[in-house]
Formats: sequence, C-alpha cells, structure tokens
Amino acid sequence: MASLVGPSAISASPRVHALLARLHAASESQEKSLSQTWFYLKRLAAFYLFSTPWGTAADDHMRDKFVALEQDKCQVMYLLLRSAGALNVVEAGTSFGVSTIYLALAVGQNVADQKALLGRSVVSGRVIATEKEPSKAALARKHWAEAGDEVAGVIELREGDLLETLKMDGMPDVVDFLLLDIWTPMALPTLQIIKPRLKKGAIILADNTSMARPLYKEYLDYIHDAANGFKTTEVPYSGGLQMSVYLPGEGI
Ligand SMILES: C[S@@+](CC[C@H](N)C(=O)[O-])C[C@H]1O[C@@H](n2cnc3c(N)ncnc32)[C@H](O)[C@@H]1O
Repeated sequence: MASLVGPSAISASPRVHALLARLHAASESQEKSLSQTWFYLKRLAAFYLFSTPWGTAADDHMRDKFVALEQDKCQVMYLLLRSAGALNVVEAGTSFGVSTIYLALAVGQNVADQKALLGRSVVSGRVIATEKEPSKAALARKHWAEAGDEVAGVIELREGDLLETLKMDGMPDVVDFLLLDIWTPMALPTLQIIKPRLKKGAIILADNTSMARPLYKEYLDYIHDAANGFKTTEVPYSGGLQMSVYLPGEGI
C-alpha cells in the first residue's frame, strides 16, 4: 500500500524533497528518544503540580532540538496554503526551519500562479519566520540555502523575541495564514499581535493542542469564544492540531 505521508503531497524539486526527508528523520529520532519523552513528561508534571512556567532551563534543553512540525501536518498545511492562495504568512516558532520550507514553497508557488493569472509581475508574497535562538536561526538559514532560491527567496527571518519582532516595521498589511508552533504561553500573545492584520478567512494552525491542552488553556478559551471572531476545530493529528478560521461578525 502506498504511504499516506509522501512527497506527492507537495510540489518541490528532488533536492528539496531529499532535504525534507532528511530533516524530518532527524527531528523524529530526537522526539522519539527516551530523554525527550522524559523531558515532556517532567514539563507537564511540573506545570500540573507546581504551575512551573516555561523557563531558561527548558530553553537550554531545547536549543539543539528540531521539534519540527511532523511531516503529515506540514503536508496538510502546504495544501491548505495552496488551496487558499495564501501570499502573506507568519510563522511563530521557526527552530531549524523545517515547517518554514513548506510555507515558502506554497507562497512562492501561489505568487507564480497569481502572476501567471493576472499577467502582472507586481504580485508578491512572503513568509515571516521568527526565532529567538541565534544558533537555531543560523541553522535554519543554512537549510533554506540548501533548499535553494525557491525557498530562501521567499523567507524573511525576524530574529529575537517575536513579541518584539512582529511589532516592527515592514509587516504585511494583510496576513493570510498564521502558524503557531511555539512554546504554549506565546500562542495567545502572538495571535493578539497578528489579529488586526488577519484577513477574513485567514487560517490559524496551532500545534499539539490536545497533548498540551492545559498549557494552551488561555489560547483555547480565547479561540472558542465566539465574540473573538474565530471558527475552530481540532484536527486529530498526533498531539492535536487546532485549525481556526478568522470569520468576524458571523455570530455563533
Ligand atoms: C516547536 S519549535 C518550532 C519548530 C518549527 N516550526 C519547525 O517545524 O521546524 C518552537 C521554536 O520557537 C522558538 N521560540 C520560543 N519562544 C520564542 C520567542 N519568544 N520568540 C521567537 N522564537 C521563540 C524556540 O526557540 C523554538 O525553536
């Protein structure tokens, strides 16, 4: 039987397919290790028992970890972006740049489609990526360079704390898609920064919402409150993938 997770889900050069396969394999092997499972269990226990927030020790532990969005989630994200014709995308949490490659492929291909359709060269789009760890940002840039210009040419990486960098000049007026693949306390503040730019129909994906439900409480309460303008459902990928669409003014 054919694999349900395969390269046929995305349009990319053989070099990019090979790079993605290599990066996902490296990330998966880290995530499946006993030490990483133990780290997540300890984090959840510390939160439940002592309300311990994410801190510098956790950042230190994660500095050399991919924690990449799984391949099946990346593929559905790419297809959503292609279907929606998304041009301006924000990624909260870039790490070594794996999910960013899918976002950049989709945006680059959407730009090319729209240029062909409109017969104009003025159409543009980009992926705003965000990473606070300099060593992770450097490796992400290396991976994008390896992918080539079809990927690297579409990405603007904002280095530093995204609560600052996403408020800086040069943001697109309208955002079509937001990926929240970030430590859970950052999810709601990030959404609140980007919300004024969301177009009606913008898609927001947040990763691991069932696995980390208690840690996502504020975000999930917000997104489920009809007054805030989102329609939302959890897609049953591993760990849960919350998919929301910004549809203000449509009531309950
Ligand atoms: C789950 S990982 C992202 C994985 C990435 N989306 C992928 O699929 O390859 C989350 C990343 O967010 C970064 N991060 C955490 N807090 C941040 C902040 N305040 N500003 C920018 N980046 C942050 C972490 O350093 C980490 O690399």
